[in-house]
Amino acid sequence: MTLSPSMAASTPKANSKTQALLTASQLNKTVQVGEQKLSIIKDVSMYVNAGEFVVIMGKSGSGKSTLLGLLAALDYPDSGTVELAGQTLSSLDEDALAFIRQQEMGFVFQSFHLLPTLTVAENIAFPLDIARRPNPARVDELIDAVDLGHRRHSLPNQLSGGEQQRTAVARALVSHPKIVFADEPTGNLDEQNANQVMQLLLDLRQQVGSALVVVTHDPALAEMADRVITMHDGRIDE
Ligand SMILES: Nc1ncnc2c1ncn2[C@@H]1O[C@H](COP(=O)(O)OP(=O)(O)OP(=O)(O)O)[C@@H](O)[C@H]1O
Ligand SMILES: [Mg+2]
Repeated sequence: MTLSPSMAASTPKANSKTQALLTASQLNKTVQVGEQKLSIIKDVSMYVNAGEFVVIMGKSGSGKSTLLGLLAALDYPDSGTVELAGQTLSSLDEDALAFIRQQEMGFVFQSFHLLPTLTVAENIAFPLDIARRPNPARVDELIDAVDLGHRRHSLPNQLSGGEQQRTAVARALVSHPKIVFADEPTGNLDEQNANQVMQLLLDLRQQVGSALVVVTHDPALAEMADRVITMHDGRIDE
């Protein structure tokens, strides 16, 4: 049905998805394991509002990382769509997707994923540099925010785990992305570093106004979320 402008205006708030920043509809993903086709994401629909902090929980193997990969268009679904700010990601070619990942998304992974030959400052600057929008003042601001001024010229292999993840957090937020995806960002850290990294991630995303989707096993983190989604055997528990 097509609504005329006057009808649309008088229609009460249709559903929460209309306003969502990210909308996933009916996602399915299968993988081939030997002779068998295994269904690992089953009819998953979900949304993330602008600025919202969503946590995804669930047992090991329930499909959390796979789902995050689909939401971030790092991986393709067999069927279903992901829309970010009104754009259907699966309809875009690889160049357009790469551009959206650079401009609109930030990523933090359990194993840090820093570029090994770049210094802390260069890693943080990287999203701005590849977008040809270098901004040394913004990089300095982020280095200070994650308290790595004394490490700015260090390489990742010269850093502790906490320092590496603080670098990754700064890199994820440096270009004011609309949404940040984090897969067990504190999974490789001790409790003190985990708390510090998570607090930085929350503080910076508050400043930037990004939405945040975090896969975690940490109940304390789930308590801080606006909304918790639980996965079970490839599906979202209702
Ligand atoms: N490329 C693949 N080939 C075969 N099976 C896969 C592949 N990727 C994921 N799986 C399977 O799909 C299921 C979901 O995996 P996924 O990594 O999404 O789980 P998860 O919830 O992130 O688990 P964890 O908490 O251990 O990280 C698992 O059973 C996994 O073995
Ligand atoms: Mg996982």
